Amino acid sequence: MILLTGGAGYIGSHAAIEFIKAGYSVVVLDNLSNSKQEAVKRTQALAGVNFDFIEGDIRDRALLDKVFAQYDIKSVVHFAGLKAVGESVQQPLRYYDNNVNGSLVLFEAMIAANVHTIVFSSSATVYGDPHTVPIKEDFPLSTTNPYGASKLMIENILRDVHVANPQWRIALLRYFNPTGAHESGLIGEDPNGIPNNLMPYIAQVASGKRAALQVFGGDYATHDGTGVRDYIHVTDLVKGHVKALQYLEQYQELITVNLGTGKGYSVLDMLNAMEQAANKTIPYQITDRRAGDIAACYADPEYAFNKIGWKAEFDQQAMCQDTWRWQSKNPQGYDD
Ligand SMILES: NC(=O)c1ccc[n+]([C@@H]2O[C@H](COP(=O)([O-])OP(=O)(O)OC[C@H]3O[C@@H](n4cnc5c(N)ncnc54)[C@H](O)[C@@H]3O)[C@@H](O)[C@H]2O)c1
Repeated sequence: MILLTGGAGYIGSHAAIEFIKAGYSVVVLDNLSNSKQEAVKRTQALAGVNFDFIEGDIRDRALLDKVFAQYDIKSVVHFAGLKAVGESVQQPLRYYDNNVNGSLVLFEAMIAANVHTIVFSSSATVYGDPHTVPIKEDFPLSTTNPYGASKLMIENILRDVHVANPQWRIALLRYFNPTGAHESGLIGEDPNGIPNNLMPYIAQVASGKRAALQVFGGDYATHDGTGVRDYIHVTDLVKGHVKALQYLEQYQELITVNLGTGKGYSVLDMLNAMEQAANKTIPYQITDRRAGDIAACYADPEYAFNKIGWKAEFDQQAMCQDTWRWQSKNPQGYDD
């Protein structure tokens, strides 16, 4: 059995389906700080399995001990975390407590329960402003905000844990820009308030919930002046987790792997593709650059393929169609 921390969230819910499809059983622990129980219900329906859901916090050691005692957990896939960059600048202590302290409590509970296999949700943000693209796993690491720093700290903690006890099997997965939704349109990304990420924002403009997209910066050194990112379909992303766990089951190692497509699309490329998927014109204005943003960020996905046999398969059109299906079926997210 796999413990999915943060398994009610955007990526975790899609992961539950993919792990169940691959033959695993799962139990989800989530404090619902950024998700809804409705997502769990829909995920259970899509997976065809009523897996257990525990509403609780990874910082609650007594609860974790109970969960490890109750279930025969062999590995943990650790999604639980706060993820809004801007908010992390305003509330650094909340981010360090939730992400770093929460991870420490989780790792200690794992050791107490003799569980030494973990797949961790890291982020391409640990590369800071890369000198060149595509980004390889051995590029220098740096961070510019508490969210990114919390991810890098947790990576470093896990590296130290592995040095202290090589019995650990650890995958540090650095996500690029997850987007899209389950093909059914029943689960997807449901941000609280104003979306921080481009694609949910564009989708909300397309559905009429917001007036226009603000494009931060039109003068970057990219093909159309807008920022270029590596958008990856969430279904591809979670399949990378299944491959990583299967690798760890074979090899007692710590691996660090980029999960991206290797293709960069600009803001305007994604906007145009969403216009086609939604069959609507999506209004936008180009405004000033946003502090901390970089011109281009995309993965070199070769190591992922060579190491764990994974590569992304969904293209830009599928990402946009699935984002739009989710948005148009659920204009208010899970509140519908
Ligand atoms: N979505 C992205 O763009 C992106 C990119 C890189 C990395 N990541 C990382 O991937 C992971 C999943 O991201 P997501 O997009 O699904 O976000 P999400 O907010 O939808 O999911 C995270 C889940 O963790 C839960 N959670 C947070 N703190 C918790 C705690 N202390 N105890 C228990 N549950 C807790 C939230 O309620 C939420 O359901 C996060 O760690 C995030 O930092 C996401």
